[in-house]
Amino acid sequence: VELPKSQAGAGAGAGQRVKISIYFATWWALNVVFNIYNKKVLNAYPFPWLTSTLSLATGSLIMLISWATRIAEFPKMDLEFWKNLFPVAVAHTIGHVAATVSMSKVAVSFTHIIKSGEPAFSVLVSRFLLGETFPLPVYLSLVPIIGGCALSAATELNFNMTGFMGAMISNLAFVFRNIFSKKGMKGKSVSGMNYYACLSIMSLLILTPFAIAMEGPQMWALGWQNAVSQIGPNFVWWVAAQSIFYHLYNQVSYMSLDEISPLTFSVGNTMKRISVIVSSIIIFQTPVRPINALGAAIAILGTFIYSQSKQ
Ligand code: 3PG
Repeated sequence: VELPKSQAGAGAGAGQRVKISIYFATWWALNVVFNIYNKKVLNAYPFPWLTSTLSLATGSLIMLISWATRIAEFPKMDLEFWKNLFPVAVAHTIGHVAATVSMSKVAVSFTHIIKSGEPAFSVLVSRFLLGETFPLPVYLSLVPIIGGCALSAATELNFNMTGFMGAMISNLAFVFRNIFSKKGMKGKSVSGMNYYACLSIMSLLILTPFAIAMEGPQMWALGWQNAVSQIGPNFVWWVAAQSIFYHLYNQVSYMSLDEISPLTFSVGNTMKRISVIVSSIIIFQTPVRPINALGAAIAILGTFIYSQSKQ
């Protein structure tokens, strides 16, 4: 039975909306689980350089197995593809390790409050490095974003400079990652899932020597014994969970980036942070002062105003 054109169009639109909603819900749920296990691991085993490396290694392994068993189609790649991927991978590596270092020093909620300021970095980088200009409301939306983050940071009970700077560096690096990956994905036949897989593999190669230099096998082994004696043999499953969920949430986020505009993506990302902030405060019983929560709310509201004004 052929539907009238308008009805068929509405059906396809509704189908696409359902698909995106499923992507978003999955992305947020996977991200919440990642953040919880990541913090549980870091509390017992404070080696963020290693845990960041393990997340990338697990993702690379999952994808190599998926390609070998033909669960996922092997992408068509050339030297040009890998060359274009390199700056994305450098930015992804820096952003990832900086966020993990941050979370090893401060509450998960604090890292994500600062990370909700990412749009501000995006505007400043685009304005001052790329010479892009924006309408006035976009600049005005930076006031609540920066003000809210600043208020939250100034009133944070367990403020730590490394934790704060880690989240700021992660923001800056991810702005570059997004700019470069948008360019790299444009007009390419590689799917979002495979693009993220190649990104993981390249980032793993970049990060491994730095992780060894920063922490090293001796410290890792000693810390491992400590963690296992504290938590028990189940500790290895916590590490596995944080690594697997890291890959899965990023893979789903790149799969949805394939389907939606970067703007819708950034709104989805902000909503993701709200679920992480709320759930981590409940699970880790993070002490929050009302003024601190107000700062976070202002910053997140600013991010929504930003996306509206960019539209
Ligand atoms: C990481 O470890 O890469 C960060 O937790 C990433 O944070 P985001 O994906 O929420 O920006």
